[in-house]
Amino acid sequence: MKKIAVFASGNGSNAQAIAEHFNQGNDARVIVILSNRKDAFVIQRAADLAIPAIVFNRSEFYDTDNITNYLIDEKIDLVVLAGFLWLLPSSLVKAFPNRIVNIHPALLPKFGGKGMYGHFVHEAVVAAGEAQSGITIHYVNEHYDEGQIIFQVHCNVDHSDTADSLAAKIHELEYAHFPRVIDEVIKTIDPT
Ligand code: GAR
Repeated sequence: MKKIAVFASGNGSNAQAIAEHFNQGNDARVIVILSNRKDAFVIQRAADLAIPAIVFNRSEFYDTDNITNYLIDEKIDLVVLAGFLWLLPSSLVKAFPNRIVNIHPALLPKFGGKGMYGHFVHEAVVAAGEAQSGITIHYVNEHYDEGQIIFQVHCNVDHSDTADSLAAKIHELEYAHFPRVIDEVIKTIDPT
């Protein structure tokens, strides 16, 4: 069985969709959810899903290798960033080459980079008058939103769309595709 660790900073609806997708079968499972916010709703979702949750603060994440070492010790096969808003320390990126994936709620390389997350992305897309947006699933390196792209799918942005209505469209795309794409990626990883 392959082991997945999911990082999330907020609501955690993608984390839940991924856990529910995998935790019915035996090929892979979400064994832990990690967050930088103890009050994030994803922590409640983890409890409801009976998945252990780990909360860390900034100094533990950036000044120690505790989290990286935990993931290594647990023999995690794939790290999934699902609405996780902090840049990963290079020790973590280096420990999991081509084994960390992120989802971004726009068509990278447009509307990516520091500060471009969640609602800010959708507001920028609507303000720019884009005819299309979408999702990008990509490998993670030491820079925001720059790793190799694995999958993209687009949706139309209508004149009547607001950041909220676009966010709803994007979330539907995320739930439909992110677990499936993770499934494909994890099948390419040799068991540790
Ligand atoms: C998702 O739309 C995800 O693509 C986005 O945050 C949202 C988290 O929602 N991620 C980023 O913006 C990363 N730059 P969720 O907590 O309900 O899964």
